Amino acid sequence: MAYNLLKGKTGIIFGALNNQSIAWKVAERAYEEGARFVLTNTPIALRFGELNELAERTGSIVIPADATSVKDLEMLISKSMEYFGGKIDFILHSIGMSLNVRKGRNYDDVDYDYLVKTYDISALSFHKLLQTAKKMDAINEWGSVVALSYIAAQRTLFRYNDMADAKAALESIARSFGYIYGREKRVRINTISQSPTLTTAGSGVKGIDDLLDYSERMSPLGNASADECADYCVTLFSDLTRKVTMQNLYHDGGFSSMGMSERAMHTYSRSLNCDECRDQE
Ligand SMILES: NC(=O)c1ccc[n+]([C@@H]2O[C@H](COP(=O)([O-])OP(=O)(O)OC[C@H]3O[C@@H](n4cnc5c(N)ncnc54)[C@H](O)[C@@H]3O)[C@@H](O)[C@H]2O)c1
Repeated sequence: MAYNLLKGKTGIIFGALNNQSIAWKVAERAYEEGARFVLTNTPIALRFGELNELAERTGSIVIPADATSVKDLEMLISKSMEYFGGKIDFILHSIGMSLNVRKGRNYDDVDYDYLVKTYDISALSFHKLLQTAKKMDAINEWGSVVALSYIAAQRTLFRYNDMADAKAALESIARSFGYIYGREKRVRINTISQSPTLTTAGSGVKGIDDLLDYSERMSPLGNASADECADYCVTLFSDLTRKVTMQNLYHDGGFSSMGMSERAMHTYSRSLNCDECRDQE
């Protein structure tokens, strides 16, 4: 159901790669809610992805940009402002990548060049984006910037690797920059800590199926889907959340407040009792 929550608003959406991407769902929902936006991704992602199809369906334009390049960000923002004829109202940062995760390098055996890339792509790009937007005075008063995070920023989750550190930095940037951008320009900045979700980035985490199953069993409301995440993003871009800023907002069906659920306990004790498991001990 659409509520016209973003009628008249313009924005930039980073990170839609294919129709599983969280950013893809956000673009679809933002369009339904009346927003106009620019879609952006790296030139290589544009070659392999399906972004033009989404652009056509949502009446958007696509501008390639590598979010780690300040020059690209300046070009993207100035072209977007030119396209809309003024400042924009919202930005979605839905970007993450770790070569250590991709190449199966464990946290106690990371490649440091990869680690620096992880930070640059998954966290520093957010600072670069905010700093560039602020210097160019690109965002309207009460505008809203949202980045996507994961609970591995607070809790250790097996195999999430150097992305955990990147997400911790990402959330910290939202607070540090949120103070300055809020004070000076009334722009709000938040991160959404989303449930594990089956996307291209999500599938890069080895054992994602087990993680999905575990968090589904642990969360009283079950895992939040990419579509539900898009609904939440739309509310944060809307005028209904004008005083929400500098927050890491959990969108995870309650997972972040749980210690042990009945469903997870049941599975755990069943596995402890199974014959095969006893033999292995
Ligand atoms: N899938 C999950 O389980 C999950 C859970 C919580 C948070 N998140 C976060 O959600 C966000 C979106 O991921 P997704 O799950 O939709 O996967 P996805 O693979 O569809 O999206 C990741 C995007 O990042 C883009 N990207 C990578 N390097 C870039 C760069 N240098 N410049 C610009 N874009 C770049 C990719 O091209 C891709 O479009 C990420 O921040 C991810 O960490 C995902």
